[in-house]
Amino acid sequence: MSFADIRRKVLATEAVTMLTCYDAGWASLLDGTVDMLLVGDSVANVCLGMESTRGVGLDAMVHHTRAVRAGARRSLVVADMPFGTYLQRSDALTAAARLMSEGGADAVKLEGGGDYLAGTVRALSRAGIPVVGHVGLLPQTAGAATGFRVQGQDSAGGRAVVADAVALANAGARAVVLEMVPDEVAAAATARLRAMGVATIGIGAGPGCSGQVLVLHDALGLTPPHARAPRFSRRFAQLAPAAQAAAEAFASAVRDGSFPSDAESRPMAPRARAAFRKAWEEDDALSAGLDWPETRGSHGGGASAAADAGRGQADVALVAVRNCPEQLRSAAGMAAELLRPWPPLGDGCTSPADRGAPPPVVIAIQNGMGAAEALQAALRGRAIVLDCVTTHGATLEGGAVAHFGGPANTTSVAPLLRSTGGAGGGGGAFSTQQELDAAESVAAWLARAGLGGEVLSPLEQAAARLRKLSVTCSLVAVAATAGVTNGAAVAPEGRLRAVVRALAEELVPVVRSEARRLRGAAGPASTSAADPLAWAADGVGDEEVAGSIMDAAVQVGTATSDNVCSLLASKRGGTAHELAATLGWACDAAQREGSRTPRLRAAMASLAAAAEALA
Ligand code: KIV
Repeated sequence: MSFADIRRKVLATEAVTMLTCYDAGWASLLDGTVDMLLVGDSVANVCLGMESTRGVGLDAMVHHTRAVRAGARRSLVVADMPFGTYLQRSDALTAAARLMSEGGADAVKLEGGGDYLAGTVRALSRAGIPVVGHVGLLPQTAGAATGFRVQGQDSAGGRAVVADAVALANAGARAVVLEMVPDEVAAAATARLRAMGVATIGIGAGPGCSGQVLVLHDALGLTPPHARAPRFSRRFAQLAPAAQAAAEAFASAVRDGSFPSDAESRPMAPRARAAFRKAWEEDDALSAGLDWPETRGSHGGGASAAADAGRGQADVALVAVRNCPEQLRSAAGMAAELLRPWPPLGDGCTSPADRGAPPPVVIAIQNGMGAAEALQAALRGRAIVLDCVTTHGATLEGGAVAHFGGPANTTSVAPLLRSTGGAGGGGGAFSTQQELDAAESVAAWLARAGLGGEVLSPLEQAAARLRKLSVTCSLVAVAATAGVTNGAAVAPEGRLRAVVRALAEELVPVVRSEARRLRGAAGPASTSAADPLAWAADGVGDEEVAGSIMDAAVQVGTATSDNVCSLLASKRGGTAHELAATLGWACDAAQREGSRTPRLRAAMASLAAAAEALA
């Protein structure tokens, strides 16, 4: 873009566009989308927290102009001359020269009209410095002089604005910003300047200008509170809430350990890591007598620890995946890599037994940290344990293959916290395509490893999740409150089994209404009480539903009998706990149904007290 292009646009009545810009990052994003980038002295207000544009000096303007220049190749870069730098003509020439030579500006802008300023514009133009004028409201001097209000509102004032603009154009200005003037005045000035091939660029000056300019932060919805966007500007985007949400997401990902993930970390190569660990263990100056700091679960070291285990350099690696589909995908992908040397089925191998000894890798998808720790201990020396959330209990068969409880040996890897914690908890299938993709990838990898596993249909997922919710609110609540294993909570002669049953009874109205909601458009439920979605059916009584919840609790409790609730680990890791979210959801849902849940509430209160004690 050049001022010859701007002139051509003006004569062809094509709109001219300008946005303010103050740094290289934004400049590279905006470059070419608008004709001109204005390094405005509004940087004082929107970036530097100042009340007035008078607060910014020439050095700062040169600094910002240089940054914008670094990011802009196509748009013209226009730099504001700061207040006080063009009172004397010789000062104006010196300041403009710095903005051009040190800052790399294509043109400079200065505020004001009248004969003296027109003379300055002429001097600059004659020195080969392209100038953009600025009339109407002049922010550098507005305060006491005119106030921040529309200028040229009466006939004399309007004529003065037009005269100033024409004088600047006559003096050589290539464009003139018209700030806060009535539409008619702007249109009149535009008609005069268009005939000369000079652009008028309006800001709060109506639609009759040859172009428009806005302060970038106002246009993007990023105006800081102290600066306040003027009434005439338009927010073309609302980036502030998105930016705040991103910052919050970052902070919570750091707190819950999901950032950085394996993909976002730089683990050492296995050999270097082994040497580094050895040095740590042998060199007191390095370790100061501390134990080797094993990188924990879900990030960083997980990948390298798993890689070490896959290459036989470590006994067992534990990779905790929990509720993040992205991590799930990368951790499962990594496991698939480790499994690759094992011949895939179909390559002359028709069953897992034909394959010979498996590599020292088993993927286990499990519920909760406690389970993963138990698996790690059980598989010492042989396995990588991928820990994430499933809808059914899981256990080990023959010590080497993960077996998934629940119907037809299927597993549905779902981010349960999200679905149970939110409004209308427990409903629906995978809530995003991303989650579904992640689950499908895991299923495919499991299948390739000969472990089986498939992604359930949305309705099956809903049923599985409802079953899972019921089990969490009965079995897991009791095991966690009493601090015992799942198996102990449902032991046939144990007293806790009666408590599990009591919670199951309180859950009946909740799961019935949830089953009705989930069935929704899906048509009538089957009449098998074992199908959680049948809990909605009229023909199935409350007693039967409580019995089904109890059956599910006993089945899962028996299948995962050594598991301990992960409340402790979650609390230590600073993460929210599924159990609290699920019980909270159940109590709220029961209240909406008009039923009381004193035992569920008591469980919740005692868990909260336990969590408090651990925090
Ligand atoms: O500094 C600035 O942002 C400006 C615009 C208001 C045109 O001069």
